[in-house]
Amino acid sequence: MTEPLKILAINGSERTGNTSDVLRHAADTAEQRGAHFDTVDLRNIRMERCGPCGDCNVRPVPCSLEDDIPGVVRRMTEADAIVFAAPVHGFGTASLMQTFIERAGVGYLRFDRPLSNKVAGIIAVARRYSAGEVWAQLTVNAMLNRMIVVGSGFPATVHALHRGDALKDTEGLTNVSRMINRMIDMAELLSEYRRLTGRDALLAPHEVNERVGLEANAYDPTVPKTASA
Ligand SMILES: Cc1cc2nc3c(=O)[nH]c(=O)nc-3n(C[C@H](O)[C@H](O)[C@H](O)COP(=O)(O)O)c2cc1C
Repeated sequence: MTEPLKILAINGSERTGNTSDVLRHAADTAEQRGAHFDTVDLRNIRMERCGPCGDCNVRPVPCSLEDDIPGVVRRMTEADAIVFAAPVHGFGTASLMQTFIERAGVGYLRFDRPLSNKVAGIIAVARRYSAGEVWAQLTVNAMLNRMIVVGSGFPATVHALHRGDALKDTEGLTNVSRMINRMIDMAELLSEYRRLTGRDALLAPHEVNERVGLEANAYDPTVPKTASA
């Protein structure tokens, strides 16, 4: 029997609110397809903010700040598909998700792009303003990480203010379900491709690390090392 597909959601809300409700809806859709759906609530993990060192562009090892980001990166690398879900705050991405993008992206992901060819889905939740901008930012970030972002017809943006409002946005939830279903379709297609061809890496190896002069695949990106290591 084949293993169920693993979908991991990253929730960038600071409360159990609309984004959690939308992710519960996404989980229901995934579970109806037999996929496993798990969520990391960024509010419950230890996450430092990027510091002032600015060494990222020259240091050939991951960030030495100690927090839970390496564990979350590892969980993402073990998933088949990843959902990034965030509320809109101040016309932009809520700060928990923004901090995560900076810490995970700059500290870990950009070395070997370990999320390459994983399927990505983006959800933005807003009262009314800038859901599209946040959705677009998170989409570009997934593409930066060489993920495969599937279309869902209209973007999976959900409009809601108070807790419970998200479940009334039937159009938004339909777009979320369509996105999850298409993510599963794409992940199954990729898995079938790998099974038939025996090829795992779909990328040319020389493209792995875009930072000039740094060796690719030189270490496990989820194990932090100090700058002198
Ligand atoms: C600090 C803060 C800033 C917000 N800024 C915006 C905004 O710029 N545009 C908007 O449409 N909604 C804004 N909202 C509303 C939230 O996006 C909305 O209530 C959303 O449903 C919250 O999701 P959550 O319950 O998962 O936290 C803001 C909410 C907060 C708390």
